[in-house]
This record gives sequence, C-alpha cells and structure tokens, in this order.
Amino acid sequence: MLGLTIIIVVMLPLSISLQTIVRQEQTKAENAGLTKTIAYKDSIAPVLKKNCSPCHSEGGKIFDTYPFDRYETAQMLGKRLNTRLKGNDASLVDRWIKEGMLETTQDSTSTHQRTRPQG
Ligand code: HEC
Repeated sequence: MLGLTIIIVVMLPLSISLQTIVRQEQTKAENAGLTKTIAYKDSIAPVLKKNCSPCHSEGGKIFDTYPFDRYETAQMLGKRLNTRLKGNDASLVDRWIKEGMLETTQDSTSTHQRTRPQG
C-alpha cells in the first residue's frame, strides 16, 4: 500500500510536468512556422515559377492567357494545376486548396503573437 502511494506521489507531478513540456514544444513549433498556412505568395508562386517557366512566365508563350505570377490565375485554375505537378509540389497545391486558397498568410505580423505570463 505504501509502495503504491509513493508511486502516485512521484508519478503524478512528473506526468504533469511532462505535459507542460510537450505543450511548450508545440508552441515553439507553431512559432517556428512548422504548422504554417500555405499561401499563394510564399508557397505556390515559387513552385509554379520553378516548374512552369518559361511558358507561363513573362515573355512565355502562354503568359498572356495563363500568367502564373498572378494570384487570380492560380485561384481560377485551382485543382487543374495538379494535372502537371507531381509529388511534394502537388501536395502543396492540395493543401493550399484545402486551406481556402489564401493569397498571403494573414498572421505574418507580430501583433498576432501569443502572450504568456512571465515567470
Ligand atoms: C512548354 C510550355 C509549357 C510549360 C512548361 C507549362 N505549360 Fe501549362 N500550358 C501551356 C500551353 C501552350 C497552354 C494552353 C494550351 C493547353 O491547354 O495545352 C497551357 C495551359 C495550361 C493550363 C490550362 C489548361 C488545362 O489543361 O487545364 C494549365 C492548368 C496549365 N497549363 C498548367 C501548367 C502547370 C501547372 C505547369 C508547370 C508544372 C505548366 N502548365 C507548364 C504551355 C506550358
């Protein structure tokens, strides 16, 4: 009986402090942008530029019809972009569509940061 009591007395605070550590790590990951929202400007435009130049870039043969440096083009084509993208690039577009096809990340300013009590 005494042994059990000791285990409870020792384990309970330990598990609580472990939970605190896990939570702190999650917050760190969020702040480091690991759970970052996908936005056209930061994520999609560079992928299109890398894979779809020169044709869809300025001076390219289809730039007048489908300019990929413009958010509206990507937004309008949506899923159709993935008929010519593969792997990570295609999953990035999928995530972007799922998250609502943002043009820019909305919470990139510091006014949005979590405040936590000091000490
Ligand atoms: C060699 C030039 C060339 C490259 C490189 C190119 N495209 Fe295109 N693309 C075209 C032309 C020409 C058209 C218009 C005619 C057509 O539909 O094929 C077009 C049309 C499209 C369309 C609209 C028609 C449709 O099929 O839905 C999409 C979407 C598209 N391209 C996506 C892409 C993506 C994404 C990339 C990069 C991974 C890319 N293209 C790279 C030449 C190109």
